[in-house]
Amino acid sequence: MEAGHASINEAAAWRSPVTQMSASRVSSGAGLLIDRVSKRYGKVMAVRQTTIDIPRGEFLTILGPSGSGKTTLLMMVAGFEQPTSGDLRVGAKSIVALPPEKRNFGMVFQGYALFPHMTVEQNVAYPLMVRGQKGPDAVKKVKDALEFVRLGHLAARLPRQLSGGQQQRVAVARALVFNPDVVLLDEPLGALDRKLRSEVQVELKALHELLGSTFLFVTHDQEEALSMSDRIAIMRDGQLEQIGAPGELYERPGNRFVADFLGKSNFIEGVAQGSMDGVMVYQCGARRFSAEACDALPGEAVVFALRPEKVGVSATSCGGTLNEVCGRILHWNYFGSSFRFEIETAELGHVTADVPAWKGLASPRTGMEVFVNWERNATCRLAAEPYQATPQVAHQNAAAAAGR
Ligand SMILES: Nc1ncnc2c1ncn2[C@@H]1O[C@H](COP(=O)(O)OP(=O)(O)O)[C@@H](O)[C@H]1O
Ligand SMILES: [Mg+2]
Repeated sequence: MEAGHASINEAAAWRSPVTQMSASRVSSGAGLLIDRVSKRYGKVMAVRQTTIDIPRGEFLTILGPSGSGKTTLLMMVAGFEQPTSGDLRVGAKSIVALPPEKRNFGMVFQGYALFPHMTVEQNVAYPLMVRGQKGPDAVKKVKDALEFVRLGHLAARLPRQLSGGQQQRVAVARALVFNPDVVLLDEPLGALDRKLRSEVQVELKALHELLGSTFLFVTHDQEEALSMSDRIAIMRDGQLEQIGAPGELYERPGNRFVADFLGKSNFIEGVAQGSMDGVMVYQCGARRFSAEACDALPGEAVVFALRPEKVGVSATSCGGTLNEVCGRILHWNYFGSSFRFEIETAELGHVTADVPAWKGLASPRTGMEVFVNWERNATCRLAAEPYQATPQVAHQNAAAAAGR
């Protein structure tokens, strides 16, 4: 272990309620480079040429729909699957030829994969046994790991005698017991109900802060990804679509897939007319709208994403520099703090708007005529399909290709 690591034993001491809040991140573990990794299963390319550079101590989430290659990627990092091509590196060292137990990565599997015939204690001791660690030192590590996830009192139980949340904590203890350099978590909250899930999200994030280890976390849940991660890598069909900080991806999605998968989005298609004084005008049907200037040439097709919360809805025209179209309410729902409107318009088709309740219409009705508006800086221009790599991905690919 390098200097400056927080072991789970040391971290357990930090976990008292008084010190927990003030404990700053103690950087530990190692960074990881996934370098142009591909995996083929017969005719299926489960992962294609994926490059992700994960600095030490980062909480990186891989987000994508079912079947996008998330588990395959994680299994290759863990060493349970062999890449068809590409390399995996920790620092300067390639780990691709090392068996799982030599990689020093902790793994929480999809569905936990606890051994049903072993007690909680035996489950957590298993990774130590595989690594040839036994005796009083190993016993203490198991005890500390169980204390750490607050399950010390259930050490003698079998997994089936535990709740879903408790099983999840056993899986976390088992992944952390040998002080791994990197912690890999495959949809670790998938089996929990909504309330427990949000509690464990907070707990896992605090755990990451406390240990300072590198976390590689897999989920298909966008809210989970947004709320927990330092960065999110979005995958589709085995391919990395975009990688960046949550706010960066949400505010500047690179393409329709990202804009739609991470949050909800309206799309506006038009033809660029020209830019002047920082404002770009585009034609959409018989109407012209404005957006922030971009490098689209006059006559070029442009697509914009417009988030529902950036759409205004009013009973009368607002005028001014706002973009505005007329429409009719198809459906509306009231959520206490906000309204969601589904509105049909001639120019943009179907528009979804989320409006704070205090700004909403006084008495919305289905079929009612309304004005839909949005600021010129509310739209984000998307890359034309097929999607080009974002600058970050292009940069990472270039760096990887340069053989660093
Ligand atoms: N062992 C395997 N043999 C053949 N195909 C597989 C295997 N594991 C995964 N796949 C295929 O690879 C693709 C990616 O799967 P997976 O990594 O499990 O996706 P995710 O975890 O994102 O749901 C899917 O098309 C899946 O059917
Ligand atoms: Mg999976």
